[in-house]
Order: sequence, then C-alpha cells, then structure tokens
Amino acid sequence: MEKGLSKEHSAISAMFNSIAGKYDLLNHLLSLGIDKGWRRKLVRGLKSSPAKVILDLACGTGDLTIALYKNGFTVTGADLSVNMLQIARQKSEKLEKMEQPIPDYIECSAENLPFEDSSFDAVTISFGIRNFQNRDIALQEIFRVLKPDGRLAILEFATPKNWVWRTLFNTYFSVILPVIGRMISKDTRAYRYLPESVKEFPQYETFCKEIERQGFNNIDFKPLTGGVAVLYFAEKLG
Ligand SMILES: C[S@@+](CC[C@H](N)C(=O)[O-])C[C@H]1O[C@@H](n2cnc3c(N)ncnc32)[C@H](O)[C@@H]1O
Repeated sequence: MEKGLSKEHSAISAMFNSIAGKYDLLNHLLSLGIDKGWRRKLVRGLKSSPAKVILDLACGTGDLTIALYKNGFTVTGADLSVNMLQIARQKSEKLEKMEQPIPDYIECSAENLPFEDSSFDAVTISFGIRNFQNRDIALQEIFRVLKPDGRLAILEFATPKNWVWRTLFNTYFSVILPVIGRMISKDTRAYRYLPESVKEFPQYETFCKEIERQGFNNIDFKPLTGGVAVLYFAEKLG
C-alpha cells in the first residue's frame, strides 16, 4: 500500500482491519456528518421500487445495512474485512427488532459472491467499489446475483466539476483529511490511500459506461453536495 494503490484482497482487508475500530468516528467526523444524508438518499431511491431483499456489498461497519434494515428491507451485509464485519454485527445486535430478521453478515469478496443466481432484489454499495480489485468481475457477479428487474445502487466519492469547489475539496481531501485520519486511526497509509483511490476512480458518465458494459440498463446518476459524492442507479432488465 505504501507505493501506489495495491487493491489485492489481502492488502485491502489488512488496511480496513487496522482502522475498523476508528472507522465510524472518522467517517462522521471527516464528512461532518454529511455521509449520513447521502446514505439516506440511497435508501429513499430504493424505497420507491418493489425491492425487499438486499445485498449490501462492502458493508463495512454496517451503517448503510442498518439504515436499510430500519426502512423495512431484509438485508445481508458482505465484506472482506473481518474486523469491519465484527463491528457491523455488534451494532446490529443492539437494533430494535423489526418484522424482518436482523441483518446477516458474510465475509467474502465482491469478485466471488457466495450466493445463488437471482437471489436479491437490489444490491447496494456505499464507498466500497473504488476499492475493488476487479470492478468488471464484481459487476458481473452483482448482475448474476440480482433477480430480473433487480436494481443496483452505488454511492461513491467523486471530484467536483466546478473548479472552486474542486480546489476546496482537493485541499481538504489531500491535505487536511490524511493528517486528521492519521492522528486518530494511527494508520499512516489508510487516509492517504483515500484521496488517491478517489482520484483514480472513473466518475460520472465514464463509470456509467463501465456499469453498462456488464449488461445493466437504465443507468442514472445524481451528484451530491456539489459532486463530492455521486449516487448511481442501474437495473438488470428482466
Ligand atoms: C470505505 S469502506 C465503506 C463501508 C460502508 N459501506 C460505508 O458506507 O461506510 C469500504 C469497505 O469495502 C470493503 N471492500 C473493499 N474491497 C472489497 C472487495 N473486493 N470485496 C468486498 N469488500 C471489499 C472493505 O473491507 C471496507 O469495509
């Protein structure tokens, strides 16, 4: 991870295992709490569809998984990092019981999903896909496990198109955030990796084309907070 961006599963899971204990605190602090509103927008986008059973891929500590559960969905969270999953499980055990079972969590990679074909009404990924070792294979796997007419919802960071906003964002993301991240997490790499991984991730229309190449239709995206994050939706037509 020191040189360039290794996205090997072992490197990525080691990094997230190392920061898992401080992940939630840093997430909400560094985004000034805005990340919660972004996840809410994703959940709202799915509520308008008949989706019931959801796979929250790269679920991490389970913030989106839990938001989906609280909105009445049956959710399975999946992630590479055992420490992130452990926190997600602990948070879920404290949840007030609803009609549907509390989220189930599974350790696996996005590139090799341990689910039958056509298992889910929707697959969600928040701030996970830019870390995947092989996005094309992961998107093929997602397509496979989605039911016909199933939906894909992806929330991911982006670089704002407006230059004033982009300059502010780059300064914050590349200069301030790594320093605070390192101080709190004591991990020297993880919060330097974050801006680098956002910079190299394809954005907006370019990423939509990647999704389309794997067979998805009706691809749409919505920039959030001036384009700091983007919410993508796509469908597997029946
Ligand atoms: C930045 S965290 C996002 C967690 C959570 N979705 C959220 O919104 O806070 C990225 C997560 O992606 C997971 N991840 C990265 N690559 C993965 C892969 N190939 N398969 C499964 N999970 C992966 C990491 O372990 C980590 O927990």
